[in-house]
Amino acid sequence: MTSPAVLFVDHTGMMGGAQHSLLDIAESYRERGAVALLEDGPFAAALETRGVRVLRIDGGEALRRVKKTSAFPGVAPLVAVARMARRVARAARSFDLLYANSPKSFLVAALAGVIARKPVVWHLRDILGQGHFSAANARTVIAVANWRAARVVANSRATADAFVAAGGRRSLVTVVHNGIDPAPFDALGPHTCREVRAELGIASDAFVVGIFSRLHPWKGQSVLLDAVARMPGVHALVVGGALFSGEAPYELELRARAELPSYAGRVHMLGARDDVPRLLAACNVVVHASVLPEPFGRVLVEAMLAGRPVIASNAGGVPEVVTDGETGVLVPPGDARALGEALDALRRDAARTAAMAQRGAARARERFSRDAMLAGVRRVVSEVAA
Ligand code: UDP
Ligand code: GLC
Repeated sequence: MTSPAVLFVDHTGMMGGAQHSLLDIAESYRERGAVALLEDGPFAAALETRGVRVLRIDGGEALRRVKKTSAFPGVAPLVAVARMARRVARAARSFDLLYANSPKSFLVAALAGVIARKPVVWHLRDILGQGHFSAANARTVIAVANWRAARVVANSRATADAFVAAGGRRSLVTVVHNGIDPAPFDALGPHTCREVRAELGIASDAFVVGIFSRLHPWKGQSVLLDAVARMPGVHALVVGGALFSGEAPYELELRARAELPSYAGRVHMLGARDDVPRLLAACNVVVHASVLPEPFGRVLVEAMLAGRPVIASNAGGVPEVVTDGETGVLVPPGDARALGEALDALRRDAARTAAMAQRGAARARERFSRDAMLAGVRRVVSEVAA
């Protein structure tokens, strides 16, 4: 059977975790599929590099200004949604179904689906509520899902449960965890750690912790800096950029903090990078410090694939990815003291830490493979297309 022709829809041209994941999914449908992007940017280029057709349908400023946490969005974004839905509907005629990768793009796709009479799948990668979304925005998108989504693919059980808790229909939801291609991690050499440290001017025997996320207050980079402030000699790699509007002041604040004499050059603000696997390899421990529940956290799987032990915030989808005491250590979100204690404990017990990292690497390969993710998505898409 030929695979269905899927028109994916996403609202952003920036590369967040949702877009990294869609890269793999869209690539697997590239023969008959395409991605409608409501904003141009590096994501469009990355898709095209993988041979995926991109339809640029600019959403304009009105939609960009609407944030997950904004109160009633006003009339201009609604007009923008309707305008874009008409354009996406026109594009959708030659496809079997629409597949939205974000709440904003789902609203557009849902309306486009009505106009073009096509089913719509929503890949839900957000925890609707719990500080991430305003009640008004969560209500709107859930009402539209209950009315119009053929299926909802959730990136974790936590994401699925939050959808249901906020009023979403349970029968719509299938959980498909993210999966990561291990190839770039398999390619890491035995000298990568030393090479990267030399590039960064960090001694090869220093204790290095890394955090890998776009710079946003909810990702908790400042919690790691609090912990590191109390750990003389420890270096921190802060990897990631301010991707979305409104994140720039936080970046400035972190950069100013990193320059404080008390850190003595131990905090390395590396910005957005496209060589994450080798930077992970340069760390002794990888920290995930989100202060709000993380829906999934691809970076956890990536750290495990790089054979690095992880300490992560115990909330959202994280406990589905990391088992406390077995494949990593879970700490309460936003608790710099607990994070510091966990770092100290791992630093003192090298044997336990190495065993944990090894189990993590095996778990990541078994449970979070790209092939398993693609099979999960394919099953849902085929059922809807049929
Ligand atoms: N990432 C990257 N360069 C950076 C920082 C992060 O390529 O400088 C990648 C990271 O490897 C991961 C993704 O961005 O694949 C972030 O996904 P995650 O699910 O961890 O968080 P999100 O940003 O989607 O909330
Ligand atoms: C979202 C979530 C993140 C998840 C990613 C991929 O960006 O914030 O936790 O890993 O989507 O599904």
